Amino acid sequence: MVSRRFFIVGLTASILASLGVFPAVFAAARRYRPKGYTGEGYYRVEGGSIELPMPSLDGPVSLEKSLAHRRSIREYTSEPLRLEELSQILWAAYGVSEVKHGFKTAPSAGATYPLNVYAVIYPGGVVTLTGEFIEGGSYIYEPEAHRLTLVKKGDMSRELYGACLEQEWVLEAKTSIVITAVYERTTKRYGNRGVRYVLIEVGHAGQNIYLQATALGLATVAIGAFYDDSVREIIGAGEAEHPLYVMPLAGPARKYQIREEELKAYIERRRR
Ligand SMILES: Cc1cc2nc3c(=O)[nH]c(=O)nc-3n(C[C@H](O)[C@H](O)[C@H](O)COP(=O)(O)O)c2cc1C
Repeated sequence: MVSRRFFIVGLTASILASLGVFPAVFAAARRYRPKGYTGEGYYRVEGGSIELPMPSLDGPVSLEKSLAHRRSIREYTSEPLRLEELSQILWAAYGVSEVKHGFKTAPSAGATYPLNVYAVIYPGGVVTLTGEFIEGGSYIYEPEAHRLTLVKKGDMSRELYGACLEQEWVLEAKTSIVITAVYERTTKRYGNRGVRYVLIEVGHAGQNIYLQATALGLATVAIGAFYDDSVREIIGAGEAEHPLYVMPLAGPARKYQIREEELKAYIERRRR
């Protein structure tokens, strides 16, 4: 049996088709391809920059839930990430959250902000609201403009996987965040102790990525085992930059969740 709604839609469609409206609509849709569309299913913003969707300052998942359900996840779905999700994760990692001085979501010794955050986007890994894929490549995140700027074009997934001692999850992700540090930004103020401060800071940014990914229902894992020089070269970072973390991103094959009763039983057992 044909439903009423189905019937009305079908009738309207045939009337529009008989009036020759469909070809006009499709032609208009083609004309209004988003700026930067390459015509090959890939999306590139002029000048190699992607103005990211504005970060959201609210969300449906509590901090407690994100903490409880955060886990290092190494098995992923094949779904691409949405650009809004990548945008939100970059903001959580190292975005601006104070507009007088440009202070960021991660605390920083003396607000020296020694970290650079890159998104290594795999081909077909990140899809825009209009359904186009972002061109594969290494992009640097500019927190103040909340923008990604292309550093190097191409598919870097296999090279990055090699540089990370062939950890499969690097290859199977849709994008990898790479965080590098320019130690001098902090050591010129704090001397050698600045090295410790930089290493502490990357932990803050890394945890922000974990928690935001969890809140969005996405998966990540902090990777510290890689060849520094190879990662630097692959992403096109400068000589003064030292890669500290690689964090693959994708949908989780299975979500991790702990129930309150499980945790309660665990704590009570340890109290005996
Ligand atoms: C500094 C650091 C380096 C890590 N390096 C790797 C790594 O190279 N590969 C990996 O799969 N996990 C890596 N991990 C993730 C740990 O294995 C993981 O955090 C740990 O097993 C606890 O699991 P959880 O994160 O789910 O709580 C690293 C974690 C940290 C903090």
